[in-house]
Amino acid sequence: MTIKHIGVVGAGQMGSGIAQVCAAAGFQVTLNDLNNDAIQRGISSIENSLARLVSKEKISDQQARDLVALISTDTDMNGLSDCDIVVEAATENEPLKLDIFRRLDEVCKASAILASNTSSISITRLAAVTSRPGQVIGMHFMNPVPMMALVEVIRALQTEDKVFEDVTELAKAIGKVPVDVKDGFGFVANRILLPMINEAIYCRYENLASAEEIDTVMKLGMAHPMGPLALADLIGLDTCLSIMEVLHDGFNDSKYRPCPLLKQMVDAGYLGRKSGRGFYEY
Ligand SMILES: NC(=O)c1ccc[n+]([C@@H]2O[C@H](COP(=O)([O-])OP(=O)(O)OC[C@H]3O[C@@H](n4cnc5c(N)ncnc54)[C@H](O)[C@@H]3O)[C@@H](O)[C@H]2O)c1
Repeated sequence: MTIKHIGVVGAGQMGSGIAQVCAAAGFQVTLNDLNNDAIQRGISSIENSLARLVSKEKISDQQARDLVALISTDTDMNGLSDCDIVVEAATENEPLKLDIFRRLDEVCKASAILASNTSSISITRLAAVTSRPGQVIGMHFMNPVPMMALVEVIRALQTEDKVFEDVTELAKAIGKVPVDVKDGFGFVANRILLPMINEAIYCRYENLASAEEIDTVMKLGMAHPMGPLALADLIGLDTCLSIMEVLHDGFNDSKYRPCPLLKQMVDAGYLGRKSGRGFYEY
């Protein structure tokens, strides 16, 4: 399959980053979200990211303008009908994603691949609600998308080999390093990362140390570039909670029990960077 036109559903921190790297590689992109405010936030975040690259002389002003010109926007999924692949990057919530996949299956052309950037939700279950389960796959980018090389390419039980090959090629074409991962709760990245973050939140909950001290232990002691609580704020505490719930429910194992402090912070609307407050203030 020749991929020329890429749709992205969700213009949040991940969707806007995915749109940016696809346009940077010369693909035509349509960025979709529920309303114009969300779209505008996504476009502003792309423009800010490009302005930083221009100021570091990594790209020219003209290249930044050309890149933005490749991205069209839409609040109606019918605008995705011409896409060769759609990457869904909406809020981490299974019923919501199942609805989006049903709708994408209706509006997208028969040959289109439907990919999800979900952090943890079963790709096999997303595939099962469509009439094209063989063309559904996970494409799990890391945050921030323009900076991070990894893409986990996640095959559902139903995914056809050709679709896996096309998506692996696409990941390389946009400058990423694809890793072949099977569909399982949390895949590989978040199966390992989120229990560590959850444990760091337990350390805070039990008042073993301050947020800064916990992060310092992991940065200086384990050479992590970022502490787990600062990373939780970057990911979004709502997304962290949702991933822990998928691990907890999926494995039915109490070792994945989300920390009560994480639940309470999400209830309070302290979602991390995106809400201005999490373990730190922004
Ligand atoms: N945050 C991370 O570090 C990270 C990393 C990898 C993958 N992910 C995954 O990427 C996805 C998005 O995460 P995010 O951090 O960008 O979230 P976000 O909250 O920044 O953005 C989510 C966007 O989805 C939009 N949305 C919700 N319902 C929609 C619908 N029905 N149609 C179109 N748009 C809709 C929202 O308006 C919002 O703009 C989630 O599945 C998440 O698990 C996140």
